[in-house]
Amino acid sequence: MKPWVSLGRAAIPGTQDALELWQREGEFSMRIAGYVTELMNSRQHGSEEALATYTCPLVASRPAPRVLVGGLGMGFTLAAALSSLGPDAQVTVAELVPEVVEWNRGPLGECAGRPLDDPRTRVHVGDVGRLVRESPGLFDAVLLDVDNSPEGMTHQDNDWLYSAGGLRSIALSLRPGGVLGVWSVEDVPRFTAALRRARFGVEVRRARARGERGAWHTIWVAVRG
Ligand SMILES: C[S@@+](CC[C@H](N)C(=O)[O-])C[C@H]1O[C@@H](n2cnc3c(N)ncnc32)[C@H](O)[C@@H]1O
Repeated sequence: MKPWVSLGRAAIPGTQDALELWQREGEFSMRIAGYVTELMNSRQHGSEEALATYTCPLVASRPAPRVLVGGLGMGFTLAAALSSLGPDAQVTVAELVPEVVEWNRGPLGECAGRPLDDPRTRVHVGDVGRLVRESPGLFDAVLLDVDNSPEGMTHQDNDWLYSAGGLRSIALSLRPGGVLGVWSVEDVPRFTAALRRARFGVEVRRARARGERGAWHTIWVAVRG
C-alpha cells in the first residue's frame, strides 16, 4: 500500500493546534496534528450525510429555505443538504479554518462532488457560533458538526455552542418550527436534557459511519418549540 502524503497544514484560529490534510491514493484524512485518531476520513461519511438527510427534509417544502451548516470538513454534510433541498434553497457553510475551504476547492472537493460549486452554496469563513449570534430568525435549519461530541471537545471554544446560552442563541437564529441537527461520536443524555430545557422537541437518532458497517454515531434532531 502506498504511504500517506501530506497535502497541507493549517493553524486552527483561537487555538495552539493545527489541522492536517493527508492523501493515500484516492483516500483523504484530516487530522489534528499530534493526535493519532483521525478527525475525518473520506471513506467514512454515512453519519455526516445523515445529519443532513435526517433534518433538511423537515424544512425542504418551506419557501426558499435557508440552512446553516457548521463546519465544512470534507463537504459531505453540505452535499447531502443540497441534495435534500430544492432549487430555491440557500445553504450557508461556516468554516473556521480558511485552508479547509481552499482544500475543498482542490482535489479534496471531488470526495463529496464539489458542493462548494453549487450556486445555492454560500461560504462563511469564521466561527459558526458567531454567525448564529448575528443571525436572529434567519435559518430554517442549523446543522452542527464542529466537534467530536457536545462533551468531547477538540476546540474548547466550541463548548459555548452546546451550553444553555448557545442553545438559546441557536433557537433564536431559527425561524418558528426550525430544526437543529447535531452530530456526535457518542450519545450524551445530558445534552438531550439540555435541548429539552431549551424547549426543543428532541429525537435522538443513530447512523453508521460507513453504509451498513462501521461505528454508530448519534444525531440529535431538535425542533424549535
Ligand atoms: C468533523 S469536520 C466536519 C465534517 C463535515 N460534516 C463533513 O461532512 O465533511 C469539523 C469541521 O468543523 C470546523 N470547525 C470547528 N469548529 C468550528 C467553528 N466554531 N466554526 C466553524 N467551523 C468549525 C473544522 O475546521 C472542521 O472543518
